[in-house]
Formats: sequence, structure tokens, C-alpha cells
Amino acid sequence: MQIVILDTPEQVANYGADRFADQLKHKPDSVLGLATGSTPIALYNALIARVQRGELSFAKARTFNLDEYLGLAGTHLQSYRYFMNEHLFRHLDIDLANTAVPDGATEEPLAACDAYEAAIKAAGGIDLQLLGIGRNGHIGFNEPSSSLASRTRVKTLTPDTVKANQRFFEAGEFQPHLSITMGIGTIMEARQILLLATGEGKAAAVRATVEGPLAARCPASILQMHPKATLVLDRAAASQLEDVAFYQYIEQENQRLPGV
Ligand code: PGA
Repeated sequence: MQIVILDTPEQVANYGADRFADQLKHKPDSVLGLATGSTPIALYNALIARVQRGELSFAKARTFNLDEYLGLAGTHLQSYRYFMNEHLFRHLDIDLANTAVPDGATEEPLAACDAYEAAIKAAGGIDLQLLGIGRNGHIGFNEPSSSLASRTRVKTLTPDTVKANQRFFEAGEFQPHLSITMGIGTIMEARQILLLATGEGKAAAVRATVEGPLAARCPASILQMHPKATLVLDRAAASQLEDVAFYQYIEQENQRLPGV
């Protein structure tokens, strides 16, 4: 794993935007894996600014999102489809037909999961997958105890995840406890993975991911097995890591040897 520790959340977002921009310049028809949550918003804003300045284009790109609430249609304000349209897609030059989010309104969730897997495969697989991380180490909605080999499927959210996301729902409003999520095995097939984490609240999960054992207890720890995974952290998210000096030394050396 490449561990990049930066001073501020803004720097984390800009680093992420640089990686996406490099990917699209190198391969304009890239297949991008995208995420929701509060962490990616600054990265998305940075990408939107670049597109609007004419520096970057998503015209040929395809995207697949990690997950969606089961039971919410894409028109629902809390659905992840709605989030993506509002926070990213409608500001880009991307064709909405080339953006995929699991269908939360499906009557046949199991078939929808299989179809999502097939669509990723038909697109040639994901070139660059963006991830956030839950305080419990989840990636997508793969909660602790998820099979590390899992595929796209229906998952039950932990009470903690439901609580963490409660802030987005009105009091008394239906809040789903089920989701459709790419599996951990699905995520691991992406050619490159970029996980962003900011803030003290993520520090324990980041430590378990980087320095803990590989364990279903912390789903993100599977990234130890990925040949091209980068974790981009601000100081607060990195604050419980033991070997910070070593990670920073490696990064300094990487910068002296461009292309490594
Ligand atoms: P957050 O969510 O970016 O809102 O913290 C990340 C996640 O739960 O994966």
C-alpha cells in the first residue's frame, strides 16, 4: 500500500483530483469507480472546477458507483443516485447513460446484483476505484464480517452505519437498513484503488487498515493484498498510525524517483 499523509483535507481532495485527472488524460475512456459520503465531495468539487475550466473531460468516461440504499428510488433525496447527480454528474460533460449506480428501487435485488457485476465486466473492469472508509472499517457497504471475496449483493447495514447516516434523513422518514453494494472481491478487481480518509473519527479504522491484521473485522484491511492501492490521509486520520515517519520517508523517496 502507498500511504500518503497530507496536512489538510483540501490537500487530500486535490491529490485525489490529480489522480483522477491523470487517469483520464492517460485513458479518456476510463472506467471509474465512484463513492458517496462526505469525504469525496471536495474531490468532486475539484474535478468539476477542472472540467469547467476546460482542463479535463469526462465525455468518454464510464462510471460505476459502489453502493445504493435498497428501497430508495434514484429520485429520493437521500439516494446515492441523487447524490451523484447533484454533487458530480450534472456538473460534468459526462453522458448520464454512462453512469451506473445500483438500482435501489429494483423489485429483483438479486438479479440486479448479478446484472451490476456483468455490466462492470462488460465495460472491461474498473480502472480506478475511489473509496471512503467507515469508522468501522467498511468499504462500500461491506460491513465488518463481510466475506473478503464477496461480490455485488444485498447487505444489512450495522446499527452504527445507520446512525452515522441518520443525519441525512428527516425525523420519522423511512431510512433503509439494507443496501446493494459492490462486494469486496469486486472492489479488489479494480486496477487501482484510491482510498481517502480525513478526520480523527477515521484514525482507528485507518490504523486497522494499514497496520492491523488482514481481517474481515476491518474490511478495508483487504487493501493490504492489492498491488496498487493508495491511501490518502490528512494528519488527523493518520494520527493513530505507528510508522508515520517511515511512510513519509517512502513518499519523499517516491518523489525523488518519479514513476515509481
Ligand atoms: P463519509 O463516509 O465520507 O461520510 O465519512 C465514508 C464511508 O462510510 O464509507
